[in-house]
Amino acid sequence: MIFRRLAVPLVGVAASLSLVVPPGSAQAAPGETQAVQSRQQGGPAKVPVAEGYGGAVATVDLDASKAALAILRQGGNAMDAAVAGAATLGVTEPYSAGLAGGGFLVYYDAKRRRVTSIDGREKAPQAMTETSLQENGAPIPFNDAVTSGLSVGVPGSVAQWELALRRYGTVSLKQALKPAAEVAEHGFTVDQTFYDQTVLNAARFADFTSTAALYLPNGAPPPVGSTFRNPDLAATYRELGRRGGDWLYKGRLGDEIVATVKAPPLKPGSTRVVRPGLMRTSDLRAYRALEREPAKVSYNGLEVYGMAPPSSGGSTVGEALNILEALPKVGLHEYLEASRLAFADRNVFVGDADYVDVPLEELLSDGFAKERACLIGDFAMPHPASAGSPDGSYTGCQFEGNSVTPTPDGPDKPEGPETTHLVVADRWGNVAAYNITIEQTGGSGIVVPGRGILLNNELTDFTFGPAPGDPNLPAPGKRPRSSMAPTIVLKDGRPLLAVGSPGGATIITTVLQILVNRFEFGMTLPAALAAPRASQRNIRDTQAEQAFVDRYGLELNAKGHTFVAAPGPPAGELGAATALEFLGRGKVQAVAEPTRRGGGSALVLSSRP
Ligand code: GLY
Repeated sequence: MIFRRLAVPLVGVAASLSLVVPPGSAQAAPGETQAVQSRQQGGPAKVPVAEGYGGAVATVDLDASKAALAILRQGGNAMDAAVAGAATLGVTEPYSAGLAGGGFLVYYDAKRRRVTSIDGREKAPQAMTETSLQENGAPIPFNDAVTSGLSVGVPGSVAQWELALRRYGTVSLKQALKPAAEVAEHGFTVDQTFYDQTVLNAARFADFTSTAALYLPNGAPPPVGSTFRNPDLAATYRELGRRGGDWLYKGRLGDEIVATVKAPPLKPGSTRVVRPGLMRTSDLRAYRALEREPAKVSYNGLEVYGMAPPSSGGSTVGEALNILEALPKVGLHEYLEASRLAFADRNVFVGDADYVDVPLEELLSDGFAKERACLIGDFAMPHPASAGSPDGSYTGCQFEGNSVTPTPDGPDKPEGPETTHLVVADRWGNVAAYNITIEQTGGSGIVVPGRGILLNNELTDFTFGPAPGDPNLPAPGKRPRSSMAPTIVLKDGRPLLAVGSPGGATIITTVLQILVNRFEFGMTLPAALAAPRASQRNIRDTQAEQAFVDRYGLELNAKGHTFVAAPGPPAGELGAATALEFLGRGKVQAVAEPTRRGGGSALVLSSRP
């Protein structure tokens, strides 16, 4: 066993791994408010924890939480509110989500007492092939692919909203989009996160006439505290509400998206190489959102539901939980090792199950988990961990491991803060956990002229190749593998908890770590979110927040773990989770981040039963 030195300086003394609540974790007493960062006129404050009755919401953004809560207040259900919240995040978090993006939604339907999921993942155009993200037999540089028409997937969000509302909602698309249109028209206050994300993208935004006009007014990012309006997006939402999704999938909005993908509006004189996209209007016409069976595991008497392929969220979180359940004790060392093994399997076996054979049942079986758990000892296992054999034949600890070494996600693929997540519960007990994304923060960087929407760059979630046998290579109409992990936990058949996060592949480890904090270490949900994070994805050095290294680094270093700083931005942060928990007697606790990404917004309908 080789012991590597910590790559991040240690400042503090590692705490015991068996602690219940880490010292210094931010926790709010019931009803208490923290980190009040903005207050809209007469409205609720932005607080990360809220407890109450009749409905609850948590998002990263106060305006989006208010939009979802307003729908609940008007009598809408959790699905209605989830769509309204997502559409509003498309206004206030436009670099993370929007109607030209996609997402995954896990939903507890109280009437039918079952969990379902809705797949609104973007798809590759029919013209995309296994080598479309390569040139001269080598992968296109990742950053070139990000800012291109080539990486724009066929958008899924609008089809997903319509399917979700038709099957489970009570309001029309027009009603669900109304709060978002109002925020786009009247504007929102620019906060530090929006400003920082604009600065981060400023160079590429400046290269597209439509994007610069919208997000760099007067040639610069809008200052913190100013009001940002997107009247084009307000008009787009209103017309979409009137005309329905066909306007995008069969009509003029779709024509304009395709035209922009094929010929991005590059500023005259720009030297940026922007590869055009392959999307055609026929790809839009062929798009369908799909209701899918969620991935499910039983874990310590709980039922944990997540997103099945094409997301790897449900299978990877679920496999890691099964591995942990098979171990005699669980601390942070075991959390890291279980995650390492689950990622080794994810990278070899998970892709779009409509195109590749994903052994989901075996990946989530107890037999496979026991075989994998046998590989976890007192010290970190050598890097990289090989994938296992989820073949239905398990020999327990006699298994020696196989030789399949997973394809890394791409050496230069950053796992940044992209994507966003929201949770909603309503008075009837319906619960939504909803991840939405346009992939990279800022998506492709290309705004559809006159429409106020950023195009996604979701197709960079494919493996670029060459990588023979990789389940996540592009193909015509295929959905790229996602890491989004909206998760709902049931106890005795009733919802107990819902959680999710942004963060690329670190979404999986953030969700897993929150579940481990809550159910293995006994933290409260606010403490479980606030606790410092680490992300081990079958990478040599675990990515970790500084506070994690400060608290646990020495102890984990002694077990052979090495750490590097989490990439951010913001520097060193992992994820920006939102969650909720049913506390009994109808009381719900909604939880957002106290500080990461500037802190999130939790709201409840009423403080009284
Ligand atoms: N684009 C982020 C994800 O799907 O995992």
